[in-house]
Amino acid sequence: MNRVDLGVNIDHIAVLREARRVNDPVIIDALPICKSAGANQITIHLREDRRHIHDEDAKLIIEQSILPVNLECAMSEDIIDFVCKHRPHRATIVPEKRQEVTTEGGLAVSKEFDRLKEIIKRLHYAEVEVSLFIDPHPDELLASKEAGTDWVEFHTGRYANIYAMLYSNISRTRYAIDDLRLTRKELESLLKEELGNLDNLAQHAQGLHMQVAAGHGLNYQNVSNIVQIEAIKELNIGQSIIARSVYSGLYQAVVDMKELLQR
Ligand code: PXP
Repeated sequence: MNRVDLGVNIDHIAVLREARRVNDPVIIDALPICKSAGANQITIHLREDRRHIHDEDAKLIIEQSILPVNLECAMSEDIIDFVCKHRPHRATIVPEKRQEVTTEGGLAVSKEFDRLKEIIKRLHYAEVEVSLFIDPHPDELLASKEAGTDWVEFHTGRYANIYAMLYSNISRTRYAIDDLRLTRKELESLLKEELGNLDNLAQHAQGLHMQVAAGHGLNYQNVSNIVQIEAIKELNIGQSIIARSVYSGLYQAVVDMKELLQR
């Protein structure tokens, strides 16, 4: 059966731990549970402020995970040094702002082109696969290809936000669409447009021999439209899975999401 791979972003387990600054929950306990529930990848974000995942967590997760580890990170020198030293399966370069609650937009690839190209070279030399987290925009896609990335991950925050405005009032992010005066019809047409754009760009990326992932703001309600986009091969999902796991347990939350990822 054709399916989309699932990267489970386990940062929020560390968020809970940091709320009390004790080693509970133990983050690496999530690894065998995600694996046995059918996850295809473990995703973590080593932020510059180390607000959830710490260096020690990242080291242990890379060492002990049977699943490939996708380490999200900013373009900062010390983090890239860390990645080259500890060599996760993949590094996903993301933009990072100190004040943000989560990654609120894609990389400015054209603007940061030379630096990114150099970083990608270094990561490839360390035999780490590279992904760039970008907004679904043709210029960013072409610049990503030129910079030499293996993967692009499309930021689905705008899609998730439009969806939430149409169908629910939960999980609304502050990303991109804030105009609450839009009519239902206008929102429906924006949603269609956004999905069409993601589909076209995913096909374009595939045509340029890049692999395509997507993520941000995806949940049990809104994920199915994204799953229909054939060229998207992987989704990285955190918040909604960890939120559900509070009530259902992590195993069941991953199984439930995996079920939605069959096409
Ligand atoms: N992909 C990337 C690159 C991200 O930065 C994030 C957020 O950490 C996610 C996926 C997962 O987003 P969410 O927690 O909204 O599912």
